[in-house]
Amino acid sequence: MNTLGRLEDLPADYVNALQAQNLVPLWPSLRALLPPGTPRPQTRATHWRYEAVRPLLLQAGELTPIEKAERRVLVLANPGHGLEKMQASAAIYLGMQLLLPGEWAPSHRHTPNAVRMVVEGEGAYTTVDGEKLPMRRGDLILTPTGLWHEHGHDGTDPVVWLDVLDLPLVHYLEASYHVDGPRQTVKPSRGERPYARGGVVPSADFVRDQRAYPVLRYAWTDTRAALQALAEDRPDLQAVQVTYVNPETGSDAQNILAYHALMLRPGQTLRLPARSPAMVLHAIDGAAEVAVGDQRFALAEADTCCAPGYTAVVLRNASATAPAFLFIADESPLHRKLGIHEVRS
Ligand SMILES: [Fe+2]
Repeated sequence: MNTLGRLEDLPADYVNALQAQNLVPLWPSLRALLPPGTPRPQTRATHWRYEAVRPLLLQAGELTPIEKAERRVLVLANPGHGLEKMQASAAIYLGMQLLLPGEWAPSHRHTPNAVRMVVEGEGAYTTVDGEKLPMRRGDLILTPTGLWHEHGHDGTDPVVWLDVLDLPLVHYLEASYHVDGPRQTVKPSRGERPYARGGVVPSADFVRDQRAYPVLRYAWTDTRAALQALAEDRPDLQAVQVTYVNPETGSDAQNILAYHALMLRPGQTLRLPARSPAMVLHAIDGAAEVAVGDQRFALAEADTCCAPGYTAVVLRNASATAPAFLFIADESPLHRKLGIHEVRS
């Protein structure tokens, strides 16, 4: 491969003349833009221990009233991108959010899509598009693009959840904004209950639900039961994994990021192939040893980590008796839509 000319090889007055015309020579940057064989991601394998995050988040509860924060969040920022960028990967934002009893995070809507994975506590709820959705540990709550959402808390202890958004991408596209709104009127029903059994969908008067997001809450009790049923039904299966989907269409629950849940059998070691999208792992129940390339993390319950794309990830459940359950968010819908999705091994 040819060594290409550098910027400093060019006469200074020529470089200045280019700059004056808003011009840049390509060849000094060509290899960085199009590296040979494999990308060079800025995203670094990073581990956020809940044991370390939790006291700092509770301290934020003492230091900053909800009125001064609107959303009381500590962002899980990937050092590879620079902490100030507040992103976990190219397209994924992660935040750990605290809501104290009696607090209310007011209604708004925005262009980025969000989901909440409930980490700790009872009694909080998110109202999305008029549906008041209870938040229990392990539940996945969707707040898709454009839908009104607000959070409240009728319980007695702090509630913490993990926010996952496609904010870095939407911001990069210069399409990120929000609108504040009044408190929502709560509908008497919730949308997810008729879908909870699977296999049948509502069809009043033979009409199927055309909404883009017919289900806004995926209860962990149902997802966990699905994983356990899959593990029992398919003892041959290595990856006991489910994907959160729109049950009307079968496609990913959201357009840009995908969400999955994975069960590691007791003592299981599972190798996930090197794929182009970056991904995030969060331990809902149990623990796992995570190897991302040559890095190793002991992912304890409620811990979160991320892995860059094009990197194999090996998971091990060290418990000989109990399964481990992980939540996974990745950029695969985006990569597939762009035609750049790759599985390498
Ligand atoms: Fe929001």
